[in-house]
Amino acid sequence: MWILGAILHALYYISPAYCANSFAIFGFGKPVDGGRSWKGKRLLGDGKTWGGLLVGLITGMLFGLMWYFLSQSGPLNQVYYGVFDFRITDPFFGLYLALGAMAGDMVASFLKRRMGIERGKPLWGMDQLDFVLGALLFAYFLAPTFIILEEFIALLIITPLIHLLGNQIAYLTKQKKVRW
Ligand code: CTP
Ligand code: MG
Repeated sequence: MWILGAILHALYYISPAYCANSFAIFGFGKPVDGGRSWKGKRLLGDGKTWGGLLVGLITGMLFGLMWYFLSQSGPLNQVYYGVFDFRITDPFFGLYLALGAMAGDMVASFLKRRMGIERGKPLWGMDQLDFVLGALLFAYFLAPTFIILEEFIALLIITPLIHLLGNQIAYLTKQKKVRW
């Protein structure tokens, strides 16, 4: 049951980053790199827009704020699951995770373009984990609470699986042309 607590708490903690990353697909407006290239390749590409960044940051912030308010007096105020404390004490918790998620996602796009991988073409591993690594890096330095190593490892395994599951649903509901 300890492992269940670890998985639950890890998903709970990372949820603003999942939120930011999912809602960024509703991006709009100008590309963050302003259409600029470096050595003949786009800096980030058209898949990173200011609108996506904004939507990701706002939704991630709101998601974290929800956990914060539920921690203040609501149902999460007394929730411990063994060693796992579910109280969020910083109202900006979600923003830190969203900022990290968006930064990690952009760093990944930057690296993909340098490797000559076009916008939207897959780079296995990085596409699924970039935002998680970015979010946890930011949270490690900014948020007053953090996760333990076992939870980190759980997230590295579970996130790609959730990604795969989401893509299967998108494929079966015909919102995506490829299965992965
Ligand atoms: N998106 C956005 N702005 C962001 C992040 C994402 O507008 N900051 C939108 C884009 O429409 C993007 C989609 O969300 O195509 C999916 O995001 P992602 O998979 O990260 O981008 P890709 O198009 O796959 O591009 P890349 O190869 O650079 O990862
Ligand atoms: Mg992609």
